[in-house]
Amino acid sequence: MENLKQHIEQFKDEFAKQLRVAQTEEKLEQIRIAFLGRKGKIIPLMTAMKTLPVEEKRIFGPLLNELKKTSEQILEEKKQQLVNAKHKQELIRQKYFDVSAYKPNQLASSLHVYTQIIERIEDIFISMGYDIADGPEAETDFYNFQALNVPENHPARDMQDTFWLDVPGMLMRTQTSGIQVREMKKKGAPIALAAPGRVYRYEATDASHDFMFSQSEGLFVDKNVSISNLLATVQTFLQELFEEKNLKIRVRPGYFPFVEPGIEVDFSCPFCTNGCSVCKQTKWIELMGAGLVHPNVLKHGGVDPIEYSGFAFGFGIERVAMIKYGINDIRLFHNGSVEFLKQF
Ligand code: DAH
Repeated sequence: MENLKQHIEQFKDEFAKQLRVAQTEEKLEQIRIAFLGRKGKIIPLMTAMKTLPVEEKRIFGPLLNELKKTSEQILEEKKQQLVNAKHKQELIRQKYFDVSAYKPNQLASSLHVYTQIIERIEDIFISMGYDIADGPEAETDFYNFQALNVPENHPARDMQDTFWLDVPGMLMRTQTSGIQVREMKKKGAPIALAAPGRVYRYEATDASHDFMFSQSEGLFVDKNVSISNLLATVQTFLQELFEEKNLKIRVRPGYFPFVEPGIEVDFSCPFCTNGCSVCKQTKWIELMGAGLVHPNVLKHGGVDPIEYSGFAFGFGIERVAMIKYGINDIRLFHNGSVEFLKQF
């Protein structure tokens, strides 16, 4: 009997001791199981009590019941304390939560390099009095080819490998040039527009080719437009874009079915005077196709080629950005790499 008393005291001591250091509800549950659970420390005490003579049972029975009840109560109280403390902490956290706090080392947001360069290109053309235009990326054969003087079976179709859509006569536009005709039809002449947008080519990708990239088209139609208007416009645009007043251009003959004559425009390397890795030691960088708008294209746009003439040009936006920012792989533009993007 003395023995059982001792065990009860030990139970109480140990229970109190463990409870004192318990700081979580999970810990409390572990203690409950260890002391009061079906295999808890209280079970051997109950079993021992059952072996006692009747008079002692009368004493220890209620004692053990009491022990169980008070232990459960103490546990419950402690649990309430923990819940209250947690709640209080949460209130304090909410009260002092500072929405304006920032960690200086965290990443800052910025516009995608695409957006930055396109906005820059648009700003320059707007400053020269141009409108910004756009057209559908899923385009008709008519606007992507036929209206640009490329009839069916014309060999020039092979210049641009095309993603054809399941809908007959529909494709993913291979160039932004179709916007020229769409806009002339809508607005007539005179007209001045720049049209940046995505284009698609059924091509293998490498560091300088992608199956999807961006171009900007330019179109200017008015009376008495000549090739010198084209050259002055392109030169001014490039000087602004590369912030280089001494930037020069040179032209070579080029073939594009929608212009006559057609030219290719190179510009002097803005980074060197004697050759560097950007211009591959040539001092010149190839950039765009251009020319005077072919009379057939004006006609498709509803513009009279006797009364009006115009120039057009088109260039790759990634190419411009790669030169301007020293980017060496075109695929970086849309692979979502934060390491790449955070540089801009
Ligand atoms: N559309 C041509 C291409 O994707 C680029 C181009 C060349 C556009 C000459 C023009 C132009 O407007 O006149 O290769």
